[in-house]
Amino acid sequence: MLPERLRKAPTWFLVPALAVGCILAAAGFTRIHAAQQTAPPAGTPPALTPQQQLIHQGKLIFDYTPQYAAQWTGNTLTCTDCHRLSGTVDYASPMIDVAGLFPMFSKRAGHVITLQNRIQECFVRSENGKPLPADSPQMKALIAYINSLWTNGEKNKPYKYRGLEPLPQLTGNPARGKVIYAAQCAACHQADGQGIPDAYPPLWGLNSYNDGAGMVHNAKFAAWVQHNMPLQSPGLLSPQEAWDIAAYVNSQPRPHFNQTYKSY
Ligand code: HEC
Ligand code: HEC
Repeated sequence: MLPERLRKAPTWFLVPALAVGCILAAAGFTRIHAAQQTAPPAGTPPALTPQQQLIHQGKLIFDYTPQYAAQWTGNTLTCTDCHRLSGTVDYASPMIDVAGLFPMFSKRAGHVITLQNRIQECFVRSENGKPLPADSPQMKALIAYINSLWTNGEKNKPYKYRGLEPLPQLTGNPARGKVIYAAQCAACHQADGQGIPDAYPPLWGLNSYNDGAGMVHNAKFAAWVQHNMPLQSPGLLSPQEAWDIAAYVNSQPRPHFNQTYKSY
């Protein structure tokens, strides 16, 4: 989903991107000069170890979930739509150092769960799909990718900006939320909440998260949105505005959670 999105992204985005591009081009230029003396013949692909290949595959599944794990997804959302920029954004529930926290006790499940179980939970709720089998190649790849973001190497030590930063507990007003949605969100996610395929993800309807997902709780939705949206200026919304939009978006229709999977 990323390349199309970049093409449609507002132009402000291009300014730093161009600057970085120039620096990279300059760096590449020097590298070519150095490379002419020592490197193997042009066109030789960089050799990835099997572990690096697995990590790469896991990142593809994370960024393009409906394509690479089609059998287990029931909507068009990718992991990276919520765990932004491949799980690297603070307070967008990043995957950084998450690997060292599992197995852990889950309040929702009422017992100790593995990282595989936690991923399955997002498959059956946020992805409105089916539990990705723990021994599947896709699960192994996702685990390898998340493990590659375990940077502190310490068991049970969470990353400083893990999860979501809770907002004060307020009451959202859906009528006010509708007005703010039209002004701040509809340009990308559209007035009907369906987004634009391969560019902006849907916020409700058949291709959205189901009513068993974390985002259905207004406190989580508001916390996520206040820190991450609108895309071009996160932090713009007041906590009250974020709660109002949460109340509006979560009052719209969405798929029902399949109770067969309630142990996840
Ligand atoms: C609709 C949004 C959404 C999508 C899509 C989504 N998740 Fe999540 N995920 C969440 C939320 C919300 C949480 C809980 C954050 C919190 O409460 O701290 C979460 C939590 C997690 C956690 C636990 C993080 C922690 O710090 O303990 C993992 C692991 C995870 N998700 C993996 C995935 C994977 C892998 C995918 C794709 C297959 C995915 N998620 C898709 C919203 C989403
Ligand atoms: C400039 C376009 C743009 C605007 C404006 C925007 N979003 Fe988003 N939104 C995105 C993109 C792109 C993503 C996917 C995450 C990413 O790429 O970082 C996203 C992801 C999301 C998600 C998580 C994925 C999903 O579909 O459930 C939610 C929730 C969300 N936006 C809500 C909002 C709300 C509420 C507003 C208004 C306050 C808003 N967005 C404004 C582009 C936008």
